[in-house]
Amino acid sequence: MLLEVKNLYAKLSENQEAEKMILKGVNLAIAPGEVHVIMGPNGSGKSTLANVIMGNPRYTVVSGDILFEGESIINLRTDERAQKGIMMTFQNPYEIEGVKLDQLLFTAYRKLHGEDKTFFQLDKEMKKLVDDVVLPHEFLERFVNLGFSGGERKKGEILQARFLRPKLLILDEIDSGLDVDALRIVASQINEIRKEGTSLLIITHYARILNYLDVDKVHVYVSGKVAMTGDKSLAYEVEETGYAIVNGEHGVSDLSKDSSK
Ligand SMILES: Nc1ncnc2c1ncn2[C@@H]1O[C@H](COP(=O)(O)OP(=O)(O)O)[C@@H](O)[C@H]1O
Ligand SMILES: [Mg+2]
Repeated sequence: MLLEVKNLYAKLSENQEAEKMILKGVNLAIAPGEVHVIMGPNGSGKSTLANVIMGNPRYTVVSGDILFEGESIINLRTDERAQKGIMMTFQNPYEIEGVKLDQLLFTAYRKLHGEDKTFFQLDKEMKKLVDDVVLPHEFLERFVNLGFSGGERKKGEILQARFLRPKLLILDEIDSGLDVDALRIVASQINEIRKEGTSLLIITHYARILNYLDVDKVHVYVSGKVAMTGDKSLAYEVEETGYAIVNGEHGVSDLSKDSSK
């Protein structure tokens, strides 16, 4: 397995006395090259899961484990996890004033892959990727996310992911707020990333992005844990019936039936 999340419990670090657990026994296993989708309602702890996998110090693992390529990573810093090849894009990408997008990309690339390509090669690749996400080349010269529209930020995030070629990419609501053309562009970039061998964990509210993607597994995530796992048809079923699906009327044995129509 590339990533294994084992019975993971986590809470806010600063919240000492309040016992409020956000992750309540998450189990997940992603093999190399697989694409998994997590669908869950607002506030169910999806972004928290992504942040805990990434090692955001705002959250503390209370019990359970996260293995990457068979080794526990829960005691590693975020930059050490990134160095191992784990990357996430943010639901609300932050602005970095003073750092241009191309500088960020060059620096991050060199840190991850060393000197395997020349500056000239990387520059050429970057420009091609900017074309692929249908942004003007000037974007590379602008401060990261500063004044970018919502759609431009999401395109910028997916461009970074393609350029940096992580082993595991976690996309936190990359599809939220995108118009249909931007959604298609982002989805086609996700398919390219997959072809290059990266495993993906795609966090979303909506099944609509799945119309454009091949996925291996869909997990319905409720109240801080994976409640049900199936294939794409499960996502369409959730979209139709809501998250009540995990509360009984449909058993796990129903998951094989095709309800995507
Ligand atoms: N940094 C934080 N500070 C305060 N509350 C938080 C923080 N992160 C998460 N929470 C709380 O944990 C719950 C899960 O949040 P989140 O992981 O963002 O859910 P989702 O991404 O599924 O919408 C929410 O009730 C949210 O308010
Ligand atoms: Mg979220």
